[in-house]
Amino acid sequence: MGILLLLCFSLIISFSSGADTIYANQFLSGNQTIISKDGNFELGFFKAGNSSNYYIGIWYKKVPFNPPTVVWVANRETPISDRFSSKFKLKDGNLVLLNESNTPIWSTNMISTATPASVVLHDDGNLVLLYGSSSSTPIWQSFDHPTHTFLPGSKLGLLG
Ligand SMILES: *[C@@H]1O[C@H](CO)[C@@H](O)[C@H](O)[C@H]1NC(C)=O
Ligand SMILES: *[C@@H]1O[C@H](CO)[C@@H](O)[C@H](O)[C@H]1NC(C)=O
Ligand SMILES: *[C@@H]1O[C@H](CO)[C@@H](O)[C@H](O)[C@H]1NC(C)=O
Repeated sequence: MGILLLLCFSLIISFSSGADTIYANQFLSGNQTIISKDGNFELGFFKAGNSSNYYIGIWYKKVPFNPPTVVWVANRETPISDRFSSKFKLKDGNLVLLNESNTPIWSTNMISTATPASVVLHDDGNLVLLYGSSSSTPIWQSFDHPTHTFLPGSKLGLLG
């Protein structure tokens, strides 16, 4: 497994420029994505098959397949219908997905008082929440919460 202990500081604020981080004062919405530093993985809203629902997840980006190979899904039980009015952001100590009425429908569900500083998508496909700098210990990581459910129309790849 590739380990990135030292991530360069990325001061790129615009998500469309390929940032790998969502900071506490930012959110992902609509067609915005974050991309891991070396471009292996991308995180954002995607559709499974031809359903009209959207999920937020991580897909393999290096070799573009259609449909993309999805490796992790956050809200697999609670898809949303309008990605442009939904937000994926840090809120009240957690990473949450807010639906069209600003209601949290998925969360990292940690009991915590401190708000994480950032969410970083690493080049091994791991999404990590950090309190401090990029070298600090993750307080939550997607590798600890793997997705086992196959989504119709999407290939679910395995990391390895
Ligand atoms: C992303 O969404 C914006 C706003 O709706 C739109 O103008 C733009 O063309 C979209 N970009 C892509 C790559 O789909
Ligand atoms: C939508 O999905 C169904 C079931 O997977 C499939 O039979 C159908 O051909 C699809 N329609 C389009 C337009 O892709
Ligand atoms: C958002 O989620 C809440 C709680 O599940 C639900 O009551 C509400 O109808 C949802 N909003 C939309 C627009 O789907």
